[in-house]
Amino acid sequence: MKDQDFICASKPEQLIQGKVTWQSPSNIALVKYWGKEENQIPANPSISFTLDNCRTITSLEFTRKKDSEKKGDFFDFEFYFEGQKKEDFKPKIYTFFERIEEYCTYLKQYQFIINSENSFPHSSGIASSASGMSALALCVMSLEKQLFPSISEDYFYKKASFLARLGSGSACRSIQGKQVVWGEHVDIDGSSNLYGVEYPNEVHEVFENYQDTILLVDKGEKKVSSSVGHNLMHDHPFAEARFKQAHKNLASLKSIFVSGNLNDFIEVVESEALTLHAMMMSSNPYFILMKPNTLEIINKIWEFRESTGLPVCFTLDAGANVHVLYPNKNKTEILEFIKNELVAHCQSQQYILDNVGFGSKKL
Ligand code: PMV
Repeated sequence: MKDQDFICASKPEQLIQGKVTWQSPSNIALVKYWGKEENQIPANPSISFTLDNCRTITSLEFTRKKDSEKKGDFFDFEFYFEGQKKEDFKPKIYTFFERIEEYCTYLKQYQFIINSENSFPHSSGIASSASGMSALALCVMSLEKQLFPSISEDYFYKKASFLARLGSGSACRSIQGKQVVWGEHVDIDGSSNLYGVEYPNEVHEVFENYQDTILLVDKGEKKVSSSVGHNLMHDHPFAEARFKQAHKNLASLKSIFVSGNLNDFIEVVESEALTLHAMMMSSNPYFILMKPNTLEIINKIWEFRESTGLPVCFTLDAGANVHVLYPNKNKTEILEFIKNELVAHCQSQQYILDNVGFGSKKL
């Protein structure tokens, strides 16, 4: 599909008011998206596990403006986060509405009240933009479905992912499915730069209910935002090699998903995490998002894996927190190791138990 296919039709149903609510999860990338072109087009394809417990619940109340109120060419909304009115979150949502207006031309005809809450601790340093933007995009699509009832389910979810991408790139991978690919890849049918698709090929049972324990190493505000980081991939001396490597790693994961070979899985996933941070460290200007405790944890995971042979590995997103990944069948031993050895390196000993989930849900 092309961008233009997502422009809504011109003759909506009459709809005065209503309310829709969606729950949407976060996701953790195995092959990372880092670097983008205009309009949030990724510089390379990525794949993620959808998470389950880390999620956002968002409701969108809409009231059609009366003709007398239709003056003013602006988006009219209030935003509440966990019950509190949040003015400082509004610019991000305003920008989101501006980006999607071309595809959702009805937005300025409504007044909105948006209520949002996260299942994970606020300011835990966990990326909330993926779950937050995907939940809001789904709410917008539920409004669109009421305005244009004939849209198909397939179109609904593709457009929700397409809109979420315009809010925050990785958010497009939070809509549907246990594993989601975003970005064109020759070996993955249906993959697109415009939206995420559920990984269409075979996945070995060892990846069923795969565990992700998120160690909260640093809950502070990131020194360098993802958007600044993505932009530093323009003119980055290693960019072309990195983008090629992501294509290759995704192809490798395709075979690993069939074989269930966890040694190979670990090699790809850890290499991706370290490469992401290597790109940050070799940007101009350079920066480091890992903290000493991030490295302590990585070293302990390596020692534990070496001495026990258990298939535990780590990945990182754009921050200091560590995602510890392992199969469900090894949960008891690995969780014990995490609690005994790793939690001490977390800020306020905080961590989140999560696992692969199924995607968003209408409430
Ligand atoms: O979606 P953004 O712009 O916040 O970028 C997220 C990038 C990483 O989390 C570092 C990697 C990824 O693919 O999720």
